[in-house]
Amino acid sequence: MATLATKVLGIDFENPFILASAPPSAKIESIDKAFTLGWGGAVFKTITPGDLEMIEASQRYAIWKVGGKVCGFENIELLSHLTVQQWLDGSEYLRKKHPTKVQIASIMAPVVKDEWQNLVKTFNASKIDAFELNFSCPHGMPEKGVGMAIGTCPEISAKITKWVMEVAKKPVFVKLSPNVTNIAEIAKAVEDAGADGLAAINTVQSLMGVDLDTFEPMPNVNGKTTYGGYSGMAVKPIGLRCVAQIRQNSNLPILGTGGISNWRDAAEFMCVGADVVQVCTEVMINGYGIIGAMKKGLLNYLESKGLNSPEDLKNRAIANLSTHEKLNKQKLVYPWVDDNICVKCGKCVTICDESEHSALSLVDGHITVNKDLCVGCSLCSHVCAKSAIKMK
Ligand SMILES: Cc1cc2nc3c(=O)[nH]c(=O)nc-3n(C[C@H](O)[C@H](O)[C@H](O)COP(=O)(O)O)c2cc1C
Repeated sequence: MATLATKVLGIDFENPFILASAPPSAKIESIDKAFTLGWGGAVFKTITPGDLEMIEASQRYAIWKVGGKVCGFENIELLSHLTVQQWLDGSEYLRKKHPTKVQIASIMAPVVKDEWQNLVKTFNASKIDAFELNFSCPHGMPEKGVGMAIGTCPEISAKITKWVMEVAKKPVFVKLSPNVTNIAEIAKAVEDAGADGLAAINTVQSLMGVDLDTFEPMPNVNGKTTYGGYSGMAVKPIGLRCVAQIRQNSNLPILGTGGISNWRDAAEFMCVGADVVQVCTEVMINGYGIIGAMKKGLLNYLESKGLNSPEDLKNRAIANLSTHEKLNKQKLVYPWVDDNICVKCGKCVTICDESEHSALSLVDGHITVNKDLCVGCSLCSHVCAKSAIKMK
């Protein structure tokens, strides 16, 4: 029998699904509800010592929908509006009511040693299980010299990590930004500075769009906007890439985040190195209730693969990540068209023709492939609206 239980840095997770630091983890009552519904833990909405101004904009969200489904989500939201004391009391309450759930305090302070260390010392005596250092918020905070302004600079990231490690009495994860050229370099800097673990990714800096009637960009805040943080399904490939790149260069535990919307995404993050996963946007769109299907799906999958726990899945795909130079380019795959599904619309023929290769043609009601011209790129299989083309 497989289990979803797993252990990271000595912390027991009853399942590997935790709420990411965000609106679903911004209130004690909400976290209470999420725990009751089955989430394994929560990273609290980022807590500050109180001297960072926190005035929110309206609107603060903008979304990108495809076929009625939210694909990408942008926010320009700031940090927690609860005080440190409210979080301490809340943590105590949650520990009593949900003793087995993992609580992680996400924290951020100005780049001043005492500010970081005092915040950490305050939570050392609390019921939290770990810290997550927010070095990665891409909006609002960088203007104040924190958030992504820290996480894009290896030296400042290392300096603050050292300050924190000097006083922390609980494991410390550093949450990294994808908005850097080389995320592994920042991961290495904080690992060398003593971090116990890593979390990736925070949101991807973005500009959602422009209203073509008014020329006002989105999200519209009285006619203006600022660059925001992109999340949800659209960022999953970026999150996966970042976690994989970190794993290829570090053995530290990773809390994987970024576009996870179902158990499959979670499993993929584990295959490239995540120990457990965090979810934010999917919860904001569909509610805490998604946890049921996530747990069930992952458990069934582990059992179907003969794996005992999420730990057995960890890093499974890492050996298959290579450089372009080392890929085997001798063997080509060719399109195979299922005539029972193909509606002979000819789109694949047009696209192949207009995208360089002209290898497909519609002859006597069948799509035929000219293997002398086909390079096995797979574009036809992706543009087929009926999914009638497989690469074989
Ligand atoms: C509205 C919103 C607010 C967020 N606030 C925080 C925050 O306070 N601290 C933090 O570390 N990350 C914050 N994040 C980032 C998420 O924790 C997460 O890293 C990111 O959204 C990617 O995961 P997802 O695609 O599952 O949303 C926020 C994200 C959103 C959408």
